[in-house]
Amino acid sequence: MIDELRAIEADAVAQIAGTETLEALGELQRDLLGKTSALGGLKKTLGSLEPDARREAGLVMNEVSEALRGAFETKKNELEALERLARAEAERLDLTEVRTSLDGGHLHLVTQTIEELEDVFVGLGFSVAEGPEVEDDWHNFTALNFGQYHPARDMQDTFFVGLGGPKEVVMRTHTSPVQIRVMEGQEPPIYSIMPGRVYRNEATDSTHLAVFHQLECLVIDRGITFAHLAGTIDRFTKAYFGAGWTSRLRPSYFPFTEPSAEFDIQRPDGTWLELGGCGMVHPNVLSNCGIDPEEFSGFAFGFGLDRLAATRHGVSDLRELASTDIRFLEQF
Ligand code: DAH
Repeated sequence: MIDELRAIEADAVAQIAGTETLEALGELQRDLLGKTSALGGLKKTLGSLEPDARREAGLVMNEVSEALRGAFETKKNELEALERLARAEAERLDLTEVRTSLDGGHLHLVTQTIEELEDVFVGLGFSVAEGPEVEDDWHNFTALNFGQYHPARDMQDTFFVGLGGPKEVVMRTHTSPVQIRVMEGQEPPIYSIMPGRVYRNEATDSTHLAVFHQLECLVIDRGITFAHLAGTIDRFTKAYFGAGWTSRLRPSYFPFTEPSAEFDIQRPDGTWLELGGCGMVHPNVLSNCGIDPEEFSGFAFGFGLDRLAATRHGVSDLRELASTDIRFLEQF
């Protein structure tokens, strides 16, 4: 009996090792361990043995059953791992596949505008900086010299984010907070532009979007004057639009500049387009960023990119810029 059991074990182990699929393994398990198996048959004859022989044969029978169960378990794990691998291989995507058809898409008009302007400013010696769209009150308002009760902090204009204390975290309402980040992170001289997306809590119409884009410009150095500001705006206007375009400044107010101005650009046909705000960086703003206003001065300006792109490309409704209509998008 014991010899028989050992023979069954050796044969079974060889069969298990040679199995190639989970399905075949399941069948084999029924054949080798089931009631009608050779092992099952021997189990039935166990009762007819003498007590000593029965005890001994019983022990070996348990050993063999254990060994076979273990062999099945090991083989099952091995086949499952192979199957997972095969499935992963079959589902693999070729990410190096190159799309060669002509309708492969292109950059959005606003992105094209940002890249063109970056080229213009980099050509004038500026570097490009970026900041987060979710901002804290310090960068978006306080460091920019907004008084605590400035109306721009009001719910009307600002989307607040449910993080931190009440009204502490906002969707940035302009790109000016990036000025603060640049000044906090770097010593003057600073010649930087900062393009990006901004958010205002207001109704959209053909000339207003709640999510739009601005480009900010910041210069901090020794001896910077208002003439540098006016000259830079004029240089960029001509570089971007063409020699026939000019610019003008009108007195205005912003908490973070003193004096402040708004600037317009003049089309070759003589009509004016209001573009943005500018001014000499307020001494409080410099101090807030650890820059000595006695030693350094600077100018800043910021303007909307969507309106700029729309004017240049004859788009009459700004909301088109946020549309996914391919007939609109593929025109640019
Ligand atoms: N941040 C202002 C706005 O969104 C625009 C602006 C005005 C930016 C004056 C400036 C500046 O850098 O000096 O309305």
